[in-house]
Amino acid sequence: MILDGHSREAIEEAATRLRAGQLVAFPTETVYGLGADAANDDAVAGIFAAKGRPADHPLIVHVCAGTKGDEALSRFALPLPEFAMKLVHAFWPGPLTLIAPRQPGVASAAAGGQDTIGLRCPSHPVAQALLTACAEHGVAGLAGPSANRFGRVSPTTAQHVQGEFDDALLIIDGGACEVGIESTIVDCSRGVPVLLRPGVITRAQIEAACGEKLRDRHDLSAPDPRASGTLEAHYAPSAKVRLMDAKAIRTALELLGADAAHIAVWSRTELKSRSSKVLLRRMPDDAAATAQLLFATLRDFDAQGVKLIWVETPPDDHDWEGVRDRLQRAAAS
Ligand code: TXA
Ligand code: MG
Repeated sequence: MILDGHSREAIEEAATRLRAGQLVAFPTETVYGLGADAANDDAVAGIFAAKGRPADHPLIVHVCAGTKGDEALSRFALPLPEFAMKLVHAFWPGPLTLIAPRQPGVASAAAGGQDTIGLRCPSHPVAQALLTACAEHGVAGLAGPSANRFGRVSPTTAQHVQGEFDDALLIIDGGACEVGIESTIVDCSRGVPVLLRPGVITRAQIEAACGEKLRDRHDLSAPDPRASGTLEAHYAPSAKVRLMDAKAIRTALELLGADAAHIAVWSRTELKSRSSKVLLRRMPDDAAATAQLLFATLRDFDAQGVKLIWVETPPDDHDWEGVRDRLQRAAAS
């Protein structure tokens, strides 16, 4: 069931269900999340079951902005190091998730049993309205992975979510997500900032805000936390995705000529095919616009029944890192 998130009654209904331990899907500026009361281990178990996700993969806990949000932060996490607080001040509410040492005894299921916890304060007004209503009902944070089944493409509209789960799920509609790819994740639990998942907030922005060099997961000897967003193969549509340069796509289309079929092409370069059965779609020239369309485009190609999706390799610039990351994982499946 889809309800308009701009209605006060819908938000109340969602908060009441969440308080009672049920699941509710909700919009954020990145992608839609599948929410449950983060402090209720049974409710959180429902998320893992619905997604088909291994229960030791940690989830992100969403908190509201303002004083209630600050309270939630200290409820779920131990005091954050100074560099992490600088990131909070620079980017919250917004598409940044911080991994922090977890307050012992709290949200253990949401954390996948790890002694750290992922925290994020989304900027989407409907998410904020829901999180605020939840806080008023005594739900301090919503555990919320992307609202898709495990390994699949993240949803950026309420309709995408509806296609993933059974009809009884309440979905709060907040329109199409503006960012389009999941939040940037910075691990702040190891004494230095470590980039776990690139997103639309770039390395340069993070380093400027916190005044420290951002490390990579591979730079540190400590073992990685389990994290499905960091699995090599993830975000996969049913069709096979390949990253190719424009020249390779052009050559392949020329070779196949009028016989080409069941192929979709997403490229910044203008390309042609002699077959009317090739779907040609232009990728925007800038990273943010591409991120916003990325998952919806992959889903749309799937819905049109193509077998192959040929994507022009994105530029090697830092602002394309989040888009490149998602496409590489989609191509690795
Ligand atoms: O934009 C987003 O982050 C979306 C929206 C709904 O907020 N959420 C999202 O959740 O992408 P999910 O579960 O699909 O990805 C969360 C990722 C995990 O796969 C993992 O990589 C990381 O967050 N994560 C969460 N808690 C962690 C922890 N304690 N340690 C390390 N990584 C963690
Ligand atoms: Mg996900």
